[in-house]
Amino acid sequence: MLIITTKNYRELSKRASEIIADEINANPKLRICFSSGKTPVGMYNMLVKGYKNKKVNFSKLTCFGLDEYYPMSKKNPSSFYSYFFNNLFNRINVPLKNIHLLNGEAENPVLECRNYSKKFKKIDVCVLGIGVNGHIAFNEPGSLVNSHTRVIKLSPETISRNFKSFKKDNPFYSLSVGISEILSCKKIILLASGKDKADAVKKLIDEKVSKDCPVTYLKNHRNLIVIIDKDAGKKLK
Ligand code: GLP
Repeated sequence: MLIITTKNYRELSKRASEIIADEINANPKLRICFSSGKTPVGMYNMLVKGYKNKKVNFSKLTCFGLDEYYPMSKKNPSSFYSYFFNNLFNRINVPLKNIHLLNGEAENPVLECRNYSKKFKKIDVCVLGIGVNGHIAFNEPGSLVNSHTRVIKLSPETISRNFKSFKKDNPFYSLSVGISEILSCKKIILLASGKDKADAVKKLIDEKVSKDCPVTYLKNHRNLIVIIDKDAGKKLK
């Protein structure tokens, strides 16, 4: 595990965008999985800037998303579909056919997860955020190490935190890639910013693997980069 501590969120975003741009420049056909949430937004902005300045080209990339609320219309501004297109895909030159996201409108969510799991293979780089309760993607506490893409009931903690962005019709479920699929990615870049992530970061770094805190499953990954800002690292020794 490589831990990079930055002085603030801006530096975290810059460092993460540089690592990803280097990966894409080394392998333009990279298969990469992106996370939603507030944390990677700064990194996406810097990648877009890199694209505009011709420092990085996304034309051969294949992109995946980690999760989506269920049920969730693509048109809903709170969907991860909208999030990914607004923050990244509409602003770079990745071809539409190379973008794979879980469909929150699927009539049969179990089948949707099974089909997504078949596509979610040979991922070179996976960018992850972290929930305050230690969830990764939407693998809530209790998720098993061998879990695959599936329908997951959101925890009360996640609901109260994430639902601030919903005006009505809050979803109670999500579709999310599983822990085993995340661990199968060749490189993982985990981002954590702010003091409300400090407990989860401490568990990842100082405590044993436990299903009660899914981010700890990453401890055993052979190519994990953790990028945290000072606030997220404030409980570390
Ligand atoms: C969501 C997503 C995660 C994300 C996490 C943290 O629930 N499912 O993939 O990492 O929240 O989000 P934020 O960066 O907004 O704290």
